[in-house]
Amino acid sequence: MSISPGIHSIAIDDITRRAESAGYTQRSPRSTVEFIGQDLAVCELVDLAKQVADTAATVLITGESGSGKEVLAQIIRQHSGHRSEPFVAVNCGAIPEPLQESEFFGHVRGAFTGANERKIGKLERANGGTIFLDEIGEMSKSLQAALLRTLQSGEYSPVGSSETKFCNVRVIAAANRDLSEMMDAGEFRRDLYYRLNIIRLEVPALRERKCDIPLLSEHFARTLGAKYGKAGLRISQEAIQVLMTYDYPGNVRELENFVGRAAILCRGGVIEPEHLPAEATDLNPQQEILDRLDDFQSAKAHAVEKFERAYITAVLQKCGGIISRASAYSGLSERNFHEKLKRYAINAKSFRGPVRG
Ligand SMILES: Nc1ncnc2c1ncn2[C@@H]1O[C@H](COP(=O)(O)OP(=O)(O)OP(=O)(O)O)[C@@H](O)[C@H]1O
Ligand SMILES: [Mg+2]
Repeated sequence: MSISPGIHSIAIDDITRRAESAGYTQRSPRSTVEFIGQDLAVCELVDLAKQVADTAATVLITGESGSGKEVLAQIIRQHSGHRSEPFVAVNCGAIPEPLQESEFFGHVRGAFTGANERKIGKLERANGGTIFLDEIGEMSKSLQAALLRTLQSGEYSPVGSSETKFCNVRVIAAANRDLSEMMDAGEFRRDLYYRLNIIRLEVPALRERKCDIPLLSEHFARTLGAKYGKAGLRISQEAIQVLMTYDYPGNVRELENFVGRAAILCRGGVIEPEHLPAEATDLNPQQEILDRLDDFQSAKAHAVEKFERAYITAVLQKCGGIISRASAYSGLSERNFHEKLKRYAINAKSFRGPVRG
């Protein structure tokens, strides 16, 4: 499989339109969706997504919140044969359980109290295109059963109707909760899981691919700078190095927020460390120790690990991923450097590129 590092970008043709109703977005093409990353696992992931895009296979995307599951779903859609057909995103977690079936399948007039008008469901809106089921773990048990039927036969019935309708929709589901645990607890149907899990794409957490932070930060400085009236906004290498020391429990979304906030705060044309929030700059290490107060040895080991990871990443960044150079720069032996790369699962090659100085 060929692996293409860098920016995985696609141009779309129409206007992006966000529907008003909660938990529902309908995108039609004319924004540019980019899955930015150079980490080896990310490149493989994007290549796999493109490879499966033009099949009818159901795809399950897993990964922590904010890691880019929806961006990946957009990439799949854009490389599929129905790229100009609707893309309807449904956030199952944003729709109260009793309303989920009618949101999804629609309802007929009088189906329940308050159903004064016939309602077209998301499935019908997505017909011919793609439906993106976000937070699938939040789907009610009764919708899970009905969805399984639709996946198997293409059939469905609007709430309150005995009519059988047919749809032809590509399903992409996403989950950030552990579905296996939910199945064990009887909260998620096993048969539905197997039906969804035909192709599984796992988006790694940002802390596991810190080498993507420079590209992502530069991208966000450019795009968010333009959004906030600061076209050409850049981010300094020092600021990027600070951003690389943080662990991002909120993943790419959190990084995007950091850079967006900095874009608003900075006065010149360059984001510097002082524009970044305190949690990223770790100005308050005391607080972090208090937050997870362990015995002394564990607390110290955690701090050392955090420092080492950030240090190794920063040196590799500076030395363009060349280990001999990074080892000379740091004063660590090459063997020692290799051991640390292994321990922290850092891929030196993904830092290859222009040497930063
Ligand atoms: N690789 C990437 N390149 C560019 N932008 C990204 C990338 N990954 C995530 N983003 C941006 O980060 C934000 C969060 O991404 P996204 O909505 O796809 O995450 P998610 O995994 O679906 O999150 P959630 O679990 O909360 O639904 C979005 O604004 C998205 O544009
Ligand atoms: Mg999402």
